[in-house]
Amino acid sequence: MYQQLERTVRNAIRDGRLPAGARLPSSRALAAELGISRGVVTSAYDQLAAEGYLETRQGAPVRVARAVRAQPPRAPTPSLLERFAYDFGPGLPDLAGFPRDRWLRSLRSAWRESALDAVGYGDPRGVPELREALADYLRRVRGTVADPEHVLVCTGFRQGLSLTCRWLRANGIEHVALEDPGWHAHRLIVEEAGLAVTPVPVDAEGIDVVELARTGAEAVVVTPAHQFPTGAVLGARRRAALIEWAERGDRLVIEDDYDAELCRDRVGALQGLAPDRVLYIGSASKRLTPGMRLGWMLPPSWLSWALISAKAIEDAGSEIAGQLALAHFIAGGELERHLRRMRLRYGRRREALLAALSGALPDWRPSEATGGLHVLVALPNNLDEPTLLATAARHGVGIEGLSLHSYTGECAPGLVLGHAYMAEPAIERGVQLLREAAIAAHGS
Ligand SMILES: Cc1ncc(COP(=O)(O)O)c(C=O)c1O
Repeated sequence: MYQQLERTVRNAIRDGRLPAGARLPSSRALAAELGISRGVVTSAYDQLAAEGYLETRQGAPVRVARAVRAQPPRAPTPSLLERFAYDFGPGLPDLAGFPRDRWLRSLRSAWRESALDAVGYGDPRGVPELREALADYLRRVRGTVADPEHVLVCTGFRQGLSLTCRWLRANGIEHVALEDPGWHAHRLIVEEAGLAVTPVPVDAEGIDVVELARTGAEAVVVTPAHQFPTGAVLGARRRAALIEWAERGDRLVIEDDYDAELCRDRVGALQGLAPDRVLYIGSASKRLTPGMRLGWMLPPSWLSWALISAKAIEDAGSEIAGQLALAHFIAGGELERHLRRMRLRYGRRREALLAALSGALPDWRPSEATGGLHVLVALPNNLDEPTLLATAARHGVGIEGLSLHSYTGECAPGLVLGHAYMAEPAIERGVQLLREAAIAAHGS
């Protein structure tokens, strides 16, 4: 009852019905008028005074605090991210497919079963349950060599790469090689750390290791399981050459394993072949959902303490509730169950996208579909990529251009189309709208 009273008075103050300085009835009078006990009213008044809405002084009438200003209703602040009715952005998994009930079950169990000190300042590496669950999962599913001692939980791939780049910079490294085309955020993170980017071309077998060796770079970021954005899988010979390159010069390979379990050819992680030269970084963003902001690093043992110490200084360890829930989720086999469902679902959606494209836009050429969450599509040369993006946005369709992920931005026109987020009917409608946008872009 006191909460109801609190809410009523708080809302009246916020929307200006009770202005600053207004006098409220005494607790005795209000209690009598409402037919409730006086204790309920004083409790509500005390709480609102603690929140700064009321002034209550011994012997003086209760008043609305003078500093309070009415807050007229406002439209919510618009998001910094553009939203589209049909979103082919490659970054999103199927958000509606996220198993909320099962996750809630894990979250509840994690809170119920965790020790009292689990929610205090934790080990900066992450909660032991999650480090153990990850080490075991990654060993089984990705073929990594992982010791829970050296697993480091972070807030997604981005933080993992950022901590690493800052360490590289502090240790005299000036250049980091990146795949070109490659995920644009790799470049942003590397440059933010004060390092220069050396682009290395990518072909149907992944990064060109001969070109990489020519750059003189001391570290490289690669997406060997599923090159972003081309979808290429790093070939066996290239893998061996890359590891040899790293071992020959005590160099570092940073492996971005962003969506491997969702790919058609599930080759093992590079890290399993050379754990002393490869720093593995995985993420929950594609496997579960990006809003979780959870990732995991398997650094070489010689690098792990430096990164753990950097993580401890930066944020004292990642948020605990999500970590505990993920540990429970993995231990109960729920992650694998979810990934199995999503692989089938994404396969159907990819087929729907390819069929819709071949029907509506036959001169757009999708690259070989290797699974995951996106397909690279080459556009006809006479179609201007920026014009198409702008026209599609006006048609309510969100798409991402290949040039965003090209180091120079001077690549042949192309799109990186995500097919995981929308269900088949929306994909089909989205492609129809893309066709209309393409016709309009042609004319402009
Ligand atoms: C190539 C690549 N790596 C990693 C990620 C995940 O980054 P994060 O874990 O910071 O969300 C993405 C997400 O879009 C990606 O495209």
